[in-house]
Amino acid sequence: MRTRTVLDAATIESLLAAAVAAPSIHNTQPWRFRLDHDSQVLEVRSAPERTLPLTDPTHRAQYLSVGAAVFNLRLAAVHLGWRPDVRLLPDHRDPGLLAAVRLTGPLDPDHEPSDSGLYQAIARRHTSRMPFTGRPVPEPIVAEMTTAAQAAGARLHVPDFAGRRRLLRLTAAGEARNHSHPDRAAETLAWINAPGADSSYGIPASALGPPDAGRRIPMRDFTGPRSVVHRPALFFERHIQLALLWTPHDRRDDWLRAGQALQYVLLTATAHGLRTSLLHQAMEWSDLRDAVAPPRHKRCHPHMLIRFGYGPDGPGTPRGPGDCAA
Ligand SMILES: Cc1cc2nc3c(=O)[nH]c(=O)nc-3n(C[C@H](O)[C@H](O)[C@H](O)COP(=O)(O)O)c2cc1C
Repeated sequence: MRTRTVLDAATIESLLAAAVAAPSIHNTQPWRFRLDHDSQVLEVRSAPERTLPLTDPTHRAQYLSVGAAVFNLRLAAVHLGWRPDVRLLPDHRDPGLLAAVRLTGPLDPDHEPSDSGLYQAIARRHTSRMPFTGRPVPEPIVAEMTTAAQAAGARLHVPDFAGRRRLLRLTAAGEARNHSHPDRAAETLAWINAPGADSSYGIPASALGPPDAGRRIPMRDFTGPRSVVHRPALFFERHIQLALLWTPHDRRDDWLRAGQALQYVLLTATAHGLRTSLLHQAMEWSDLRDAVAPPRHKRCHPHMLIRFGYGPDGPGTPRGPGDCAA
């Protein structure tokens, strides 16, 4: 247990390494960090140069990504013996400041011990875009994922057969629209790194997956019709396991909470040996996003469709340095 009360360089490095390991849309890593040494407040800011104006004009997906990074930061702080006091959108005059994490004194001895399984999962979690085995995930694990989402201020809906079909249909509609929209397709393609390219941002072509030969699961085709990376189709799991992450409100702070919840769910799944991938295409068109809400769920504001199951691990993707401006 830590006894010092001043953040040292090694601690800051560990905190930032955990934060930047979070998932982000197209691996844009749309965050920046600034540490105020006097107050020991770590600011998490948006990185306006790494946004997606066409795919994410409202910045909701950017906030989800930043929320996921904030969750990792909290988890790492507790793991290292610090108490993180997180404030979302702490200053309305400074819209680029998305969260402020004050790291205060040592954790109380009776404080809940940090969950080291979740902390270890930060580095192990990778998006896996390959077919899963289809082996059913035991109900207690799904219940734990649902509890995790709720603890972070969001909800997880696990649809039945008809609900899954409806969500996949809407995702396929989003995918088709993205494909036939030349400017959006070009925006996405710009974040795919050709084999051998040396970039700290964007998705390496080697991390992309094949299309589903059974045409049931609309995995995102990041490279579009002019693809130079040809991947033969493979048969994906017949019984896809899906969960829909949503919040009861749709404000900027809800998006940050949804991002934290997303990461809590993904790490919980990873800690249990599951693999995950994300299907966000329907959320990128406002009419489809509205249609994603389960019927009779008037207050459901959907954020993400999470595919989970057993299968091959995804490859690691690069990260920027996670520097911290003083
Ligand atoms: C808001 C958001 C939307 C995403 N949408 C998709 C998606 O539609 N399809 C997909 O394969 N991955 C999606 N991802 C996963 C990112 O591509 C992935 O997190 C990023 O490339 C980094 O890789 P990693 O998750 O393996 O660390 C999304 C991630 C976030 C946070």
